[in-house]
Amino acid sequence: MKILVTGGLGFIGSHVVVELLNKSYDVIVVDNLSNSTIDVLEGIRTICNKKPEFEKLDLRDKLAVSDFFVRNQDINGVIHFAASKAVGESVENPLLYYENNINTLVYLLQELQKLPKSNLIFSSSCTVYGQADVLPITESAPVKPAESPYGNTKQVGEEIIADVCKVDYSLNAIALRYFNPIGSHHSGLIGELPLGTPQNLVPYITQTAIGQREQLSIFGDDYPTIDGTAVRDYIHVMDLANAHVVALERLIKHKMVVNFETFNIGTGTGSSVLEVVKTFEKATGLELNYKIVQRRDGDVTAAYADTSRANNIMGWKSKFTLQEALESAWKWQQNAIAAKES
Ligand code: UFG
Repeated sequence: MKILVTGGLGFIGSHVVVELLNKSYDVIVVDNLSNSTIDVLEGIRTICNKKPEFEKLDLRDKLAVSDFFVRNQDINGVIHFAASKAVGESVENPLLYYENNINTLVYLLQELQKLPKSNLIFSSSCTVYGQADVLPITESAPVKPAESPYGNTKQVGEEIIADVCKVDYSLNAIALRYFNPIGSHHSGLIGELPLGTPQNLVPYITQTAIGQREQLSIFGDDYPTIDGTAVRDYIHVMDLANAHVVALERLIKHKMVVNFETFNIGTGTGSSVLEVVKTFEKATGLELNYKIVQRRDGDVTAAYADTSRANNIMGWKSKFTLQEALESAWKWQQNAIAAKES
């Protein structure tokens, strides 16, 4: 089975490639290296003792995408990660996000439609729910107006796939709505490489702990939550990677009930920002320098998944604890610094 992973050298993509190679899939990665580096291939090779095929390809280049599929007619499934993901940047530059996240999806779907049969996994996000009225969040919770162009690209991306699936029964697709992915492969050889100042909590914590940032700012302690800080569902990236393999098997083995399905991928447990900080301190024995500041615009109070559909219908369940995920993030951070210094 040959699987195309777009954006396969990025944070989540690289962990999924490792899982696929370990399950003996043939993997071809395309990536434009806009938010990743070619060194990630070496990390994957060291972990798996084999490398995926790799092609530097920018999915915004429609002709190049078409040419790629002409040369690769034997692809059995596509896992589509290639997209931009910085919320703030998307507000500053919406067209970049619509081009990177929507045009590319359309070009990909146009090529998939030419195949007699195709399977697609789409990276979606819990951001589609906004502040859900009921917690934990089920897949039937209403999709709320997007807070940012980034969030909108995830909503529109799902709608585009749903529309195509309504008329094209040769396309089977699954959208995975990720909650908050954190951590890294236990080897510490691949992980999240934020460009510039991290926007997400866990990379900010690890960079502060290692001395790259002076202090973590906790955005708000006046939310109606257990300790006043916002609550999220943090999922270990290896659990998330495994969810993609399970979803792919569902597609390939024709276990779908309808040809477009959606699943929440989270742990089902919400943790506050302060709980994450305390768990990190416990896991590492370090004391983290932090202060409470104002809320961040666009943040919701609480979001955590009802994972029953993924558990019962897809047959997937998360295994790792928050502490294990934070330990792996810390290992990766220490390795990343050691690699920089050597
Ligand atoms: N936080 C801090 N300090 C930081 C960074 C984050 O206190 O330096 C807090 C945030 O306010 C939030 C929590 O930590 O309460 C988690 O923040 P992240 O930025 O790590 O994650 P988000 O929940 O904001 O992000 C998620 C997804 C994005 C998606 C976004 C939309 O990871 O893909 O929700 O709301 F776009």
